[in-house]
Amino acid sequence: MIAYTGTVPETPDRPPDQVETTRLRLERLRTSHTPALFAAVAATWETLHPWLPWALQRPTFEGQQEFTRSAERTWTDGSDFPYAMVLGEDVVGMIGLHHRQGPQTLEIGYWLASAQTGRGLATEATRALTDVALGGGAQPGLLGIDEIVIHCDQDNTASAGVPRRLGFTFDGLREVPSVAPRETGRQQIWRMHRLDWPRARQR
Ligand SMILES: CC(C)(COP(=O)(O)OP(=O)(O)OC[C@H]1O[C@@H](n2cnc3c(N)ncnc32)[C@H](O)[C@@H]1OP(=O)(O)O)[C@@H](O)C(=O)NCCC(=O)NCCS
Repeated sequence: MIAYTGTVPETPDRPPDQVETTRLRLERLRTSHTPALFAAVAATWETLHPWLPWALQRPTFEGQQEFTRSAERTWTDGSDFPYAMVLGEDVVGMIGLHHRQGPQTLEIGYWLASAQTGRGLATEATRALTDVALGGGAQPGLLGIDEIVIHCDQDNTASAGVPRRLGFTFDGLREVPSVAPRETGRQQIWRMHRLDWPRARQR
């Protein structure tokens, strides 16, 4: 009989409340983020509006408050794990792990304040949450999660740059209803499997 003497990694079924990256702190979205989130969305609405169905109308404080309240609930029930991206003391965007694609897959979605684009912050945060979900660095990965997907409109070049930079595989286009003004109705699908991530993250 071979005795196993190693440490069995503890694999959690939900992500940590806080994730540190080189420049950012990803904080579990709380109702206490509402004022900073509202300010960031209001300042960036013109760049969010073309692509994001939830940004069809200009934001209101009450709408953002309802959103942070529902974020607290979905985190607790395990269906959605939204984070505020915090740089220094400022909320500069959001990123989330979403259970929308079946039990073994998490979808990552993101947006950045327009003043913070072009610096690699969305890529840095996406890399960190891919580590959280699939394992990498000090992260053991999440129980039962084999794949991360990122969806973005065919014409949303900036968004597609994030998975491309991280070595995700392009898996074609799918037809979806277009809701936001610049959505074409064709969505790019990008995938990263747990088995491929160790090599991709070395790049
Ligand atoms: C999608 C979105 C978050 C991408 O923002 P972004 O700034 O292009 O992405 P990153 O933060 O990863 O930065 C990448 C850019 O920084 C540059 N960069 C600078 N330093 C970098 C670094 N250390 N690492 C990676 N990229 C770096 C890259 O070259 C790239 O610029 P380029 O596109 O001119 O080549 C942003 O455009 C956005 O919020 N759009 C509106 C909402 C939206 O469309 N969300 C996605 C819906 S699917």
